[in-house]
Amino acid sequence: MTEPLEATRHYLQALFGAEEGILPTIRQHLKRHKLPDISVPPEVGRLLSFLVRLCQPQHILEVGTLGGVSGICLLQGDADLVTIEKGELQAAVAEESFALAGLADRVEVLVGDARTVLPTLTPPFDLLFLDAEKSEYPDYLELAIPLIRPGGLIVADNVLRRGKPVYPTPGDATATGLRRFNRQLADDPRLDAVILPLLGDYSFNSIDGIAIARVNLSVA
Ligand code: DHB
Ligand code: MG
Repeated sequence: MTEPLEATRHYLQALFGAEEGILPTIRQHLKRHKLPDISVPPEVGRLLSFLVRLCQPQHILEVGTLGGVSGICLLQGDADLVTIEKGELQAAVAEESFALAGLADRVEVLVGDARTVLPTLTPPFDLLFLDAEKSEYPDYLELAIPLIRPGGLIVADNVLRRGKPVYPTPGDATATGLRRFNRQLADDPRLDAVILPLLGDYSFNSIDGIAIARVNLSVA
């Protein structure tokens, strides 16, 4: 029997076609290097590319490069990308991915902890994609908001990861971080935000979600 998640992905694939271009090759490249299988799934990649077509950013910032799948989805337009990755192996694999995709000259991969790197960056960016350590999302957000231009977008992966913020286990840093992050999205007067539930990667704990927020043009 086909799992509901798999069936849904097949259904979407029948509607919109399989992932195109270099992406299947890049996913194989990550697999060969044994990176964890936590790249954005095709439907999230499609959403990122759609948001780029919609908002036409020039300068994109990403926290959590992994192997470069999301970065390639973000580079569908003509923007440039600054992407921060803590893991040296991940950053090296991502550099190869961007080169394979012919995008190396539009990407800067910065290796380090985003909490250290973000304060060194020169604003403004038009779009931020957050997909790194979930317990640190509140710190990334606080440091990144001043880097995003008014009217710019903030997109964050995994904000309902495995239902953790909904059913927090005491002492679970992911749950605490995501609850704080989601609360800030809802309450921060600088932001206008929505959270969309998503298909997750596991059948039982399948819940996940993605946040899309806009930095307000004028802050009350
Ligand atoms: C996991 C999934 C993600 O999309 C991510 O960014 C980090 C971790 C996970 O399944 O553990
Ligand atoms: Mg993710």
